[in-house]
Amino acid sequence: MLKQIKESASFVKSKVSIAPEVGIILGTGLGGLVQSIESPQVLEYKDIPHFPLSTVEGHSGKLIFGTLGGKKVVAMQGRFHFYEGYNMQQVTFPVRVMKFLGIQCLFVSNASGGMNPNFAVGDLMIINDHINCLPNPLIGKNIEELGPRFPDMSEPYSKKLIALGESVGKKLGIPLQKGCYVGTTGPTFETPREYHYFHAIGGDAVGMSTVPEVIVARHMSIPVFAMSIITDLGVDGQVCTVSHEEVQAQGAKAEKKMTQIMTEMLQSLDTNELK
Ligand code: HPA
Repeated sequence: MLKQIKESASFVKSKVSIAPEVGIILGTGLGGLVQSIESPQVLEYKDIPHFPLSTVEGHSGKLIFGTLGGKKVVAMQGRFHFYEGYNMQQVTFPVRVMKFLGIQCLFVSNASGGMNPNFAVGDLMIINDHINCLPNPLIGKNIEELGPRFPDMSEPYSKKLIALGESVGKKLGIPLQKGCYVGTTGPTFETPREYHYFHAIGGDAVGMSTVPEVIVARHMSIPVFAMSIITDLGVDGQVCTVSHEEVQAQGAKAEKKMTQIMTEMLQSLDTNELK
């Protein structure tokens, strides 16, 4: 595994002249951010040794290198989901490669169903904790070079980055929710009682991604910032039908706000201060 990660990273380094400081996973809601990346250099997943290929509708598979908010970034356009049939090592492989490319922090976005009764469709939520309902990607022999056998998870999402996100939200006049994201396998959306249950155990929103990548990033001590677009509601008495198309449509509506926040955060970010 380590050998494959290093081979992927060396290949990427041989093709791209940008050494990224920040990694970005463009889930639902951040796809449009790609257009703002200056002087882009693009690598397709299919050309990178050991990289899995993206299959899900609405996601394409590319690594995009360039400058955003004055920072050198690498953005993953298209992520891997467990429900697509990849194993957890494949789902999280690109994050490990990004570590070897030198990233100092990771920004992640996704779409989710809101279970907090104060939430509305279209809200943006800063993720400040998660509950993992997927297999843990660190199960198996630990790779000591990446991180410890029993990684600390007391600060899964960087408090400094959350504070920065909140201040940027205020400055731009974009209201932000904050809460706990429950990561499930999918691909089914939740039944009414499942939404109820996830809320009862402390979740504010539920989705099918992010948690695996965050666990692997934290294993390697990478500070993480993550945001979710509430694309539908799983609130008691208000659960209605959900479709992938609807999730994408709501995601597209909120995309501009999310891109603005992330870009502005990159402007004022000093990665040295995260250590
Ligand atoms: N549940 C799970 N995943 C999701 C949802 C949801 O309601 N909305 C968007 N992704």
